[in-house]
Amino acid sequence: MNTTIELLQTRVSCGKLVAPAPIEAELEQILRCGLRGPDHGRLKPWRFHVVQGLARNKLGEVFAGVASAQPECPQSKIDKCLAMPLRAPLMVVVACEPQLDTKIPASEQLLAVGAAVQNMQVAISALGYSSIWRTGDMAYTSTVKQAFDVSEAGSIVAFLYIGTAQVALKTPEVALLPYVKNWI
Ligand SMILES: Cc1cc2nc3c(=O)[nH]c(=O)nc-3n(C[C@H](O)[C@H](O)[C@H](O)COP(=O)(O)O)c2cc1C
Repeated sequence: MNTTIELLQTRVSCGKLVAPAPIEAELEQILRCGLRGPDHGRLKPWRFHVVQGLARNKLGEVFAGVASAQPECPQSKIDKCLAMPLRAPLMVVVACEPQLDTKIPASEQLLAVGAAVQNMQVAISALGYSSIWRTGDMAYTSTVKQAFDVSEAGSIVAFLYIGTAQVALKTPEVALLPYVKNWI
């Protein structure tokens, strides 16, 4: 089978990620694959923020700051937030900045950014690494959005965690039939 077709059918996410992460040149390729997401009007609504090394600790502090501002936040939650970005050696925070003065709906621009994330996930797998697309509460807070210069109309679409799978990966088997119909 063609390797692209095989990869697209077998790619799986992995939440247990360790070093090594893609090297600089590989990361550039991954990001360039993101740029090839289908983009109605070529508006380029995507923004990619690379978070690695000590920047991950700084992001953990931002997350912990959000948690600790909530009433009666237990220390365990603060500790969890501090550790979240350390779940992989590399992270790309993907945001959408929709252009609102065009006839292309913001929803389509968001889909373009989602497709960019998927392109990157496939590229990551093709290079022999693994990833997981996460969001969670933190993605939707104004503090975290501001930390990545995301405007009010914009959104954080993905915390894309990237590294090497620490566990064996298994593609789930899914039957095609229940999801497909011939129309008319
Ligand atoms: C927009 C979006 C947000 C997601 N957020 C999370 C998340 O916060 N935590 C999580 O465990 N999985 C999240 N997922 C799902 C995983 O990325 C992954 O797709 C899922 O675990 C199924 O694994 P698979 O990709 O191998 O089928 C999210 C997926 C999408 C598309």
